[in-house]
Amino acid sequence: MTGRVQDKVALITGAARGQGRSHAIRLAEEGARVIAVDLPEAACKDVSRYSPYPMATEADLAATVGLVEAAGGEALAVPADVRDEDELTAAVAAGLARFGRLDIVSANAGITGFTGKAWELSRENWQAVIDIDLTGTWQTAKAVAPIMIDQRCGSIVITASTMGLKGTANLAGYVAAKHGVIGLMRALAHELAAFSVRVNAVAPTSVATDMVFNDAVYQLFRPDLAHPGKEDTVSAFTQHNMLPVPWADARDISEAVLWLASDEARYVHGIVLPVDAGQLAK
Ligand SMILES: NC(=O)c1ccc[n+]([C@@H]2O[C@H](COP(=O)([O-])OP(=O)(O)OC[C@H]3O[C@@H](n4cnc5c(N)ncnc54)[C@H](O)[C@@H]3O)[C@@H](O)[C@H]2O)c1
Repeated sequence: MTGRVQDKVALITGAARGQGRSHAIRLAEEGARVIAVDLPEAACKDVSRYSPYPMATEADLAATVGLVEAAGGEALAVPADVRDEDELTAAVAAGLARFGRLDIVSANAGITGFTGKAWELSRENWQAVIDIDLTGTWQTAKAVAPIMIDQRCGSIVITASTMGLKGTANLAGYVAAKHGVIGLMRALAHELAAFSVRVNAVAPTSVATDMVFNDAVYQLFRPDLAHPGKEDTVSAFTQHNMLPVPWADARDISEAVLWLASDEARYVHGIVLPVDAGQLAK
């Protein structure tokens, strides 16, 4: 029996945990070999300075490889910072050396940055979010596009957010960057269509990962409490969605990424696919 992405090779950024790890496992379950990219140790410390929750470690990235192997797949871990063009290019080269081709890219790495009103954010905080979430996504596409153009095939799936299609308070850099990656996806779709390289985006509602399960986000959703915890936020999160759920599981987003990456979606190009429990229609 063959999988839905059998023998394809998938590069995933932000693969050390959360949605990226889930995408790695789900794509491997369906036959893909995985190039798992996440922050090198020094860059992890640097990015964590701009975040209310810590980034993933190289040990987390190694654990993703173990989980892919446990699922019967094969993965190569390549520490690389999406802010660093040379590191990304080297990661792509290492993946090509190991697996020989590149069919799927999940541009998934991202941070929220510190919360606060737009006029309260520091320049450094704003810049870090734009550098990782927007410029990092562009650099990921830049590193892989020539290979996919040569192959005359490929599927790039950019992780946006419902915050790429609507706004919210206290996350201006994040909202701006996520709107930006949807614009980037649309531009890339025009540029890569002639080479049969498809480009799409997913727009998740809140997802059960470290990006959501941290004190800064709990405080954002329950400003009325001094020290809110996860359970205190369930009802506030649920109010954002039409379906009666507070957040999706990472696996729910992986199913959308898998479909967009697969040949089942061969004529799906230039779209934003919400996996949002009805949030955008509410
Ligand atoms: N969790 C949510 O509620 C939610 C909702 C919508 C969209 N998203 C988006 O989904 C994507 C995945 O987030 P997640 O929920 O898995 O959160 P997460 O924090 O668990 O995972 C993000 C990963 O990106 C990595 N990363 C951060 N900066 C990087 C860099 N410069 N280079 C390489 N890797 C880097 C982190 O180390 C981490 O492993 C992000 O783009 C996020 O914006 C998340």
